Amino acid sequence: MATPGRTQKQIAERYKGNLGYYKRKHPWRVARFCASFLALAGGVAGVVLFQRHGNEEFFNSGVISSGHATIAKDCAQCHDKSAAAGNDLTLAKFSGVVKDRFHRGVDFRSIDLRCQDCHEKHPPFGLPKKYDLHEPNVVENRSCSVCHQEHLGPGPMKRVADSECASCHGNAAVMQASAKKGTTLPPAVFHLRAHPPQQVVFEMPRPAPGYTQVFSSFAADHPEFQLIQQKARDPDVLRFNHQRHFAADIPPVSGQKLDCNYCHKPEPGGRYYQRISFAANCQACHALQFDVKNPELKIPHGDVALVRTFLRTLPAQYGDYARLKKGRTRDADVQSFVVQQIRQLQEQFRTGEELERAVFFATDPYKPQRQQTAAIRANFAGCAFCHEVKMAANSAPTITKPILVDRWMPQAQFNHAKHASVKCDECHNARQSRETSDLLMPAKANCVTCHSPQTKKVASDCLTCHGYHAPAQVAADAHASETSSFKEMLLGGNR
Ligand code: HEC
Ligand code: HEC
Ligand code: HEC
Ligand code: HEC
Ligand code: HEC
Ligand code: HEC
Ligand code: HEC
Ligand code: HEC
Ligand code: HEC
Ligand code: HEC
Repeated sequence: MATPGRTQKQIAERYKGNLGYYKRKHPWRVARFCASFLALAGGVAGVVLFQRHGNEEFFNSGVISSGHATIAKDCAQCHDKSAAAGNDLTLAKFSGVVKDRFHRGVDFRSIDLRCQDCHEKHPPFGLPKKYDLHEPNVVENRSCSVCHQEHLGPGPMKRVADSECASCHGNAAVMQASAKKGTTLPPAVFHLRAHPPQQVVFEMPRPAPGYTQVFSSFAADHPEFQLIQQKARDPDVLRFNHQRHFAADIPPVSGQKLDCNYCHKPEPGGRYYQRISFAANCQACHALQFDVKNPELKIPHGDVALVRTFLRTLPAQYGDYARLKKGRTRDADVQSFVVQQIRQLQEQFRTGEELERAVFFATDPYKPQRQQTAAIRANFAGCAFCHEVKMAANSAPTITKPILVDRWMPQAQFNHAKHASVKCDECHNARQSRETSDLLMPAKANCVTCHSPQTKKVASDCLTCHGYHAPAQVAADAHASETSSFKEMLLGGNR
């Protein structure tokens, strides 16, 4: 046991006869008092001086990102000085700010307002809802600065982490509350993501509970893509059989066997594909001939009225044909050619109506002759070979407009160019498809073979395939007139 250096008694001895000790000034205690006072007063003066003349960089907590380099020195662009202190500081305001800092850390709310000054497409809390941040049924919008963190150094801001998405999508309580809120909102407020103009987009109806399944990673528990899960069908009414066009008897075009790229040409940039067209992709084998004796004479494609006009001015058409294709120049020659051809056509079709009916309705009206090559065998077909053609009383038949979808999964983004090394067949089951209505889209499992930390380790964070911000509604409305959903197209029928 340690023995005490001095006993109580010895200590008491020191003050004997010196009982006024605390009444007298002592140089050490005076110094201590002065130091404390100076520190306090100096601090207060410092704050006041800083408010008046201070250089704000003094307190900078880190370098501003490159996107904001131009405003990096102008702290007030993001920080609202007057709200926290300044001339109109009231006691209530001050305690409010202090309380806020203790409870929530940095006051994001006032900063969010500043973000919105410049980025008006993404308004924070409490502003008139001209735009939506993400989805109309979120129960609590996140502050901008939760996802976009400033002061972390030069260069672009840090990529938004999956955990920010999972803070809602991986949280059952939040998702349940969102599903519930969703049921109170009109359907029209959903599907905020505007489609590129002039595109036909396949849009699945929003499920009753909304897109509120709980999950937190792509590879593990991300929902199966809706059109696969609900076994959607291709809405197109154009007849097309992929499998048939890879059969052995399909003739090569310019020496090339048919492959996917003959019909599916990448868009500039290669993200998606251009729309199929009759002229570029079918005509080489399915030219619209009608007269077996004059296979070079073709009906114009794409407009019922034009086809009718053509058929009702056949002498003029044969006349042009004689001049342009048969090299006849003298009027008398042309005239006799026309008369001859009209007569032989009348042996094939007794009346003009019969011809017109064949051109529109017969799926295979002109039986090919045996010696004809495969290329010609596919020809001599009417519109109904490929189209749904409807009879109309007292007017031209109608062709149901084909619905060639440009975007199948509008809630995600895809890029074919980045998958150029992957065979089409690995994602699209086209070679086995006989019906247009077959859906040829890949399932989630196709993607997980690479996009997973376990397999080929290709990036699989949410931002690989998704964005976050819903675009401005105003812009969406502006596009609406140019964009047609396939529902509209179904209702619209023939133009
Ligand atoms: C582009 C907007 C922006 C600019 C410009 C900006 N800041 Fe910030 N600042 C933020 C955000 C957002 C936060 C919130 C916390 C975070 O993300 O780090 C913050 C936080 C801070 C903090 C710590 C938190 C607090 O408020 O108590 C300080 C100190 C700070 N900034 C100082 C400055 C100074 C000094 C400047 C000017 C040189 C400046 N900032 C310029 C956006 C900005
Ligand atoms: C004074 C105007 C102004 C303010 C205030 C402002 N920004 Fe910006 N912001 C810009 C400009 C300009 C760009 C660069 C745009 C570009 O490169 O196309 C930008 C770029 C960005 C980018 C994309 C660049 C990157 O590095 O990822 C994000 C995200 C962003 N700002 C978020 C915010 C947030 C969050 C706030 C509030 C803390 C904010 N901004 C405040 C003007 C502003
Ligand atoms: C839950 C996370 C999250 C929140 C909260 C968030 N953002 Fe973003 N933001 C993103 C992601 C992810 C991207 C990149 C992908 C995209 O374009 O959607 C982005 C992109 C941006 C961009 C650059 C691209 C563009 O659309 O112009 C700006 C600017 C931006 N955000 C501003 C804001 C502002 C301002 C707020 C607050 C009002 C905010 N963000 C809130 C996740 C978020
Ligand atoms: C504040 C909560 C919240 C956060 C954070 C959040 N989401 Fe969502 N998200 C929702 C809700 C709620 C829905 C459901 C919408 C519905 O029911 O139609 C949704 C729907 C979606 C959808 C499908 C619907 C559509 O129209 O595209 C995608 C994709 C999506 N979120 C991606 C993301 C990504 C990526 C992030 C992270 C950058 C993210 N979300 C962060 C709440 C959130
Ligand atoms: C002779 C032209 C032609 C060739 C060759 C062709 N396609 Fe198509 N493809 C079409 C037409 C026409 C459509 C639109 C009708 C339809 O949806 O079936 C289409 C539609 C598609 C679609 C979207 C339709 C859906 O329902 O999902 C995919 C995916 C597709 N083709 C993939 C392929 C692949 C992969 C190949 C090669 C193995 C291929 N195509 C070869 C003409 C062709
Ligand atoms: C390389 C030549 C070639 C091209 C290009 C081509 N086809 Fe064909 N197609 C054929 C041949 C040959 C047949 C078989 C004809 C027969 O059996 O009478 C055929 C058959 C068809 C059939 C009948 C299928 C069936 O199931 O019996 C349809 C419909 C059809 N093609 C539509 C199209 C469309 C639409 C396009 C353009 C997107 C197209 N084809 C492009 C050569 C071609
Ligand atoms: C070999 C198949 C095939 C035959 C035969 C065919 N079409 Fe088409 N048709 C197509 C394809 C493929 C499209 C869609 C791509 C396009 O518009 O070029 C189309 C589109 C159309 C359209 C819609 C054009 C638009 O602007 O959207 C009309 C109308 C049409 N065809 C009329 C006809 C008429 C009339 C005939 C008969 C004289 C006919 N087609 C014969 C394949 C065919
Ligand atoms: C890694 C998987 C993958 C591969 C490989 C792939 N695709 Fe796709 N493809 C997709 C996805 C996903 C979509 C749906 C994108 C959308 O429309 O939102 C799509 C859509 C399409 C479409 C219809 C929409 C459009 O862009 O026109 C066609 C046609 C198509 N692919 C053809 C092809 C052809 C041809 C190849 C081979 C050269 C190919 N794809 C290779 C995944 C793939
Ligand atoms: C490899 C690409 C990819 C990744 C990574 C990915 N998604 Fe998706 N996601 C898709 C596709 C494709 C769809 C279907 C889109 C459609 O049908 O329009 C989808 C659909 C969704 C939906 C709607 C789900 C439903 O119920 O139908 C939500 C919500 C969503 N994704 C959120 C996320 C979140 C959050 C992450 C990150 C954890 C993520 N996704 C990662 C490709 C991806
Ligand atoms: C054979 C492997 C493989 C398969 C299968 C695959 N991907 Fe990818 N994907 C990649 C590679 C490699 C990249 C390029 C990554 C990079 O550039 O960093 C990529 C990139 C992407 C990108 C980012 C494109 C961009 O603009 O940067 C998206 C979105 C994507 N894939 C979606 C999908 C979807 C959806 C599927 C399933 C239908 C899928 N991938 C299937 C290998 C694959």
